[in-house]
Amino acid sequence: MKRVLAFDVYGTLIDTHGVVEELSRRLGDGAEEFSRRWRDKQLEYAFRRGLMGAFADFSQCTREALEFVDRATGSRLSETDKERLMATYARLPAFDDVAPALERMAEARLTRVAFSNGSRTAVEGLLRQAGILERFDDLVSVEEIKRFKPDPAVYAYLHNRLESSPHETWLVSSNPFDVIGAKHAGLRAVWVRRSAEAPFDPWGDEPDLTVSSLDELAERLS
Ligand code: 2OP
Repeated sequence: MKRVLAFDVYGTLIDTHGVVEELSRRLGDGAEEFSRRWRDKQLEYAFRRGLMGAFADFSQCTREALEFVDRATGSRLSETDKERLMATYARLPAFDDVAPALERMAEARLTRVAFSNGSRTAVEGLLRQAGILERFDDLVSVEEIKRFKPDPAVYAYLHNRLESSPHETWLVSSNPFDVIGAKHAGLRAVWVRRSAEAPFDPWGDEPDLTVSSLDELAERLS
């Protein structure tokens, strides 16, 4: 049976923790909280823009969220600090389990696609500098239809673009909003629970599979 794996990028393939190290140079102990608020606000901006029909490049959501959290926390980051943080965001590392797991999935002849809110340019650059771009068969960005996750239209676009049925298309993500969005749209979904403490939304929509790493996923699928 055909199976297409569509991997979310930020937080699933790419470890955004690198931003905390850069932030801690300026904010010390406040870096973790700042980074968490930044990620939450970045996603909030994408959700709001999606609801408003006011699509903008995801990196604009990231940059404006950085500005907001700087103001909200009174951190008073300089323009140079913010440019350096955005540059860090563009060259974050992949988690250690990603490359070997993608290799095993390729050997098992599983179709592997990167699927992100990020623009094609941003995601290609990110995956290339993380050394994993070549391990994907394709890359699908929501910019192609100017909608954001978890709009059902992005998941419909994904499987139509890949010429796979909803049940052949497996969304792989560490983000519960993405997993629930894919399930709501009729796709299969894997939750990559990278932190044992990470809660899942109590909506009653459960992933088809929960794994703690892509290694475990490769094991379970082969
Ligand atoms: C993505 O890469 C935002 O993590 C989400 O689409």
